[in-house]
Amino acid sequence: MKRVLSGVRPTGIIHLGNYLGAIKQWVDGLEASKNQDNLFCIVDLHALTTLEDSENLRHNSYLMAATYLACGLSPEKCFIFRQSDVPAHTELAWIFSCITPMGWLNRMTQFKEKAGKNIESVCLGLYAYPVLMAADILLYKATHVPVGEDQKQHVELARDVAGMFNRRFAKDFFHLPEPVITGPATRIMSLRDGTSKMSKSDVSDYSRIHLTDDADTLARKIKKAKTDTDVIAASMALMENRPEARNLVNILAALTHKKPDAVCKAFEGKTFSVLKKALIEVLHETLLPMGEKIKHYMHDLFYLDHVLEKGAAHANDLAGQHMTQIKKSVGI
Ligand code: TYM
Repeated sequence: MKRVLSGVRPTGIIHLGNYLGAIKQWVDGLEASKNQDNLFCIVDLHALTTLEDSENLRHNSYLMAATYLACGLSPEKCFIFRQSDVPAHTELAWIFSCITPMGWLNRMTQFKEKAGKNIESVCLGLYAYPVLMAADILLYKATHVPVGEDQKQHVELARDVAGMFNRRFAKDFFHLPEPVITGPATRIMSLRDGTSKMSKSDVSDYSRIHLTDDADTLARKIKKAKTDTDVIAASMALMENRPEARNLVNILAALTHKKPDAVCKAFEGKTFSVLKKALIEVLHETLLPMGEKIKHYMHDLFYLDHVLEKGAAHANDLAGQHMTQIKKSVGI
């Protein structure tokens, strides 16, 4: 049976990279899914690694549930749950910590980026983060993990941990989960610098689109987005060294379910102001209703609790079955 699992850290309102690189892929996958279990987690334990304030985290977890629903994840077709509502995530993370070589974690590029020069003072949780992520995935024996490109190394680590567990304790117990990283939006770049990723931590608000931006803000951000003075070429290959241009084409392609080359063809020879106008229209059509829905769900915490409880019940059930076997295998 195919089992899809993925998650987002609840650190505030998500940006267009999170939506196009991850959540939209999950929603599109649901449309096509039959005979498939779909689990979408709000990874609040991961958000603890950079906690600023606990009230905010509680609020942000609800905001993430509201966002998942507003983006089109139907609770009829999938399970939405909070990671901290399933204690087995941390239990399995400890077991995995005891079989994961430090050398594997030392290679994680995200840790190096996030820790930067503060390697001595960042918390252990940030370093051990990929082990908890491996537990998130393997606890459910997930087969497919749809994520943006920046998470590829972490999913590969989960595969390595699964292999290590199988060799040490129980042959073929875990299937190796597949990272699903497809389409034009696996790496959406900053609107201010086409060589760096659109990210929550960029100091400039103009570098990213938020799902709750209003119509004027969306238009202003796209108008201000960095481009070059050349016209749009006939294909992406002809714009190889124009990262900002490629990024805007990729965004429009992802939002309109087209191939980037088809977008290039449609706008060939035109200036970027023409493409930007089209992009603003599509962003208005797509994001404004989502922003409204997020607000709507945030006024109904009772409903959000209901969705999260249903998700947690399913997740705990599945996790419990697997943990019994895992504990037996390791001797506890
Ligand atoms: P997070 O919260 O940083 O990001 C959530 C998802 O958004 C994708 N993403 C992007 N995709 C395209 N372009 C971008 N600029 C961009 N920025 C972010 C990420 O790749 C991700 O898919 N460790 C994970 C959360 C996690 C997880 C898991 C994911 C914890 N456990 C288990 C899958 C399975 C993270 O920090 O994602």
